[in-house]
Amino acid sequence: MAFNNRTKVKEILASAEVGKSIVVKGWVRTKRSNKNVTFIALNDGSVISNFQIVADPSQISEEILKKVTTGACISAEGVLAASQGAGQSVELLAKSIEILGEADPEKYPLQPKKHSLEFLREIGHLRMRTNTFGAVFRVRHALAFAVHKYFNEKGFLYMNTPIITGSDAEGAGEMFHVTTLDLNKVPKTAEGQVDYKQDFFEKEANLTVSGQLEGELAAMALAEIYTFGPTFRAENSNTTRHLAEFWMIEPEMAFYDLEDNMNLAEDFMKYVIRYALDHCAEDLDFLDKRAAEEEQNKKADQRSEMGLIERLKFVVDNEFVRLTYTEAIDILRNSQPNKKKKFAYPVEGWGTDLQSEHERYLVEKHFKKPVILTDYPKEIKAFYMRQNDDGKTVRAMDILFPGIGEIVGGSQREERLDKLTARMKEMHVEEENLWWYLETRKFGSAPHSGFGLGFERLNLFVSGMTNIRDVIPFPRTPGSAEF
Ligand code: 4AD
Ligand code: MG
Repeated sequence: MAFNNRTKVKEILASAEVGKSIVVKGWVRTKRSNKNVTFIALNDGSVISNFQIVADPSQISEEILKKVTTGACISAEGVLAASQGAGQSVELLAKSIEILGEADPEKYPLQPKKHSLEFLREIGHLRMRTNTFGAVFRVRHALAFAVHKYFNEKGFLYMNTPIITGSDAEGAGEMFHVTTLDLNKVPKTAEGQVDYKQDFFEKEANLTVSGQLEGELAAMALAEIYTFGPTFRAENSNTTRHLAEFWMIEPEMAFYDLEDNMNLAEDFMKYVIRYALDHCAEDLDFLDKRAAEEEQNKKADQRSEMGLIERLKFVVDNEFVRLTYTEAIDILRNSQPNKKKKFAYPVEGWGTDLQSEHERYLVEKHFKKPVILTDYPKEIKAFYMRQNDDGKTVRAMDILFPGIGEIVGGSQREERLDKLTARMKEMHVEEENLWWYLETRKFGSAPHSGFGLGFERLNLFVSGMTNIRDVIPFPRTPGSAEF
């Protein structure tokens, strides 16, 4: 049932009922006129295709047609007719047109031509009206829906973990403070420290970097849960893969070991990508062509070997390669780019953190497949990961994707209280703040695992866009929180 009198372009194109009277509403992309007739290309957001409206100047006044300009919003009533032009089965012969909102052509920033992505970021309030961003955000929606569908079908419960927390889940100290204190008159304790007792929560609070720790509490009662919410990181990384505010999906499962965790993660990634392939064909076709054009601007040796859709199908159809961090370091140390000093960060010894250039080498050049790396050195991973018997590594797993590098980070969790508290001491993680987390290890602890998928990194991969700022509606990055 429709809730108003308009018909969506998506429905019109699907049923193409010649002779039917309908109303369409949307934004004018272009207008072409000759003496006898005016053609209006309308987009209503439901599909990437514009819909053609044919206006006969004997029926529609000149005064109205003058206001039908690029960017204006109109409502058009008429009858569907078989289309003369190629590419579209039906068009609307307009009986009447109403201008809902004018757009002064002198001032409207979006002209019907190719604008740079940098320019479009500056007009983030309007960029969704372009083909590219329409496609990106329809795909983003489909992926979000697929995430919920997948976990619902698997019987996982959707848990909302808090956005304001008192703890630093990742222990990296990259948090935004949340306070109502007057920054010009910060109350101090006798020792000269900020007196958080006088703050809103009567303690230090921040925006969450991850819902995992609370997710674990839920898994220790409901067994299989997932979160899907915003997370915040005050890391000063001005890269094409980092945001200060991003969305993360974090499943957490009781009774899963690392193997089970990897099997779930791989199945899940393939499911959501397949969902986009099955449900976003037109948008992905458009984005595929767009990405192919962008590739032409790259140097020949930097071009990817596969087109976008080809790459998505490849990931869905092939098994991810699994190997340990230690095996990966050996491959990297002996790789051509390392020997020829082509890496910005040379791979010298065991224990160093992998940079995205290393991750991408493994995925794009060495294996030519998505890779799951496991058993990282404990020094470069968070306190909560399960310690291996070697005393050096932890049961971590990162999934690395072509063009992206790390897309998923996860682990089996340390469920043994003594091991966990010992590691927290070593890493200076205060037990006092996490007393509730430790209680799950005191009362009915169980082996369990989970992972975090960066939703924007997934969107980067599926859309073929190359800057993470272009797959979230309103990006927050260092120095930028417009709109
Ligand atoms: O590897 P991370 O830091 O892992 C966690 O936060 C764990 N608590 C997850 C878990 O086990 N439940 O982050 C997980 C993923 C990364 O692999 C990456 O895809 C994404 O989140 N991510 C970011 N995405 C955009 N901007 C940033 N600044 C990101 N930092 C991490
Ligand atoms: Mg990580």
